[in-house]
Amino acid sequence: MTNSELTAQLERYKWYHIIPLTPAVSTPGRADFASHHAPVLRQMDAVDFRGKRVVDIGCRDGKFCFEAEKRGAAEVLGVDTSLSLGAVELLIPFFKSKVRMLEMGLYDLNVAEHGQFDIVLFPGVLYHLRYPFTALKTLADLLPDGGRMIIETGIFADEDKRALLFCPVGKESPYEPSSVTFYNRKGMVDSLKTFGLRVDAVDYKSDKDRKRTDGEIIRGTFLCTKDSALAAEHPQHYWVGGAHKHWQKS
Ligand SMILES: C[S@@+](CC[C@H](N)C(=O)[O-])C[C@H]1O[C@@H](n2cnc3c(N)ncnc32)[C@H](O)[C@@H]1O
Repeated sequence: MTNSELTAQLERYKWYHIIPLTPAVSTPGRADFASHHAPVLRQMDAVDFRGKRVVDIGCRDGKFCFEAEKRGAAEVLGVDTSLSLGAVELLIPFFKSKVRMLEMGLYDLNVAEHGQFDIVLFPGVLYHLRYPFTALKTLADLLPDGGRMIIETGIFADEDKRALLFCPVGKESPYEPSSVTFYNRKGMVDSLKTFGLRVDAVDYKSDKDRKRTDGEIIRGTFLCTKDSALAAEHPQHYWVGGAHKHWQKS
């Protein structure tokens, strides 16, 4: 296929990611989101993908699926509530890729149906979720101990004196009305711990963001390792509505 034939094919779809297909042709995605992606790629550099089973949550056009495959992943599943037709019909065949994509919501992922994953990629989705704790638990449960998760999200950059979740609705959202969930750094790290995820490293778009404490929304990328002993320190049974005898006289 010539570059102009490829460009004509690309015009049939709507694109979010910029993904190079040839030295001269890339998917015409949003250039303004590229700066969110750099810290995710840096955190991916710290993880060994070789032979691993990977799931990319909210995969859109598959930028991070293809990155995982390039880095040697044995199997990559991308899930999104709105499948990218361009990725499925054009990119996967073009790259002769083994990436699989499913149109589904993350809350429906479970080990019984989908198996365990060694690596969960979760960029650019958490701040859109109204049920963030359920999402974190659902995704943490997909990992065996030692499994890795990379979470990229909007963060409420305060002084981190308390573990907080800023949950603006409607016009108060700093982005747009689907963006309703912004932990502060302490809220993110402490919440992850309760689901058995230890944060090993946090990366930012800039050093200025790393140091920010004025309540602005910044982007943070958290590299985590699963350690179920961390979750066992917390009353998981109570949190999921399990029967208990707390108020009964013994
Ligand atoms: C802001 S885009 C981020 C795309 C990509 N992950 C990235 O970082 O470049 C959010 C994506 O998450 C998807 N999404 C939103 N809620 C989801 C859910 N509950 N389960 C799976 N995907 C979801 C959207 O359809 C969209 O493609």
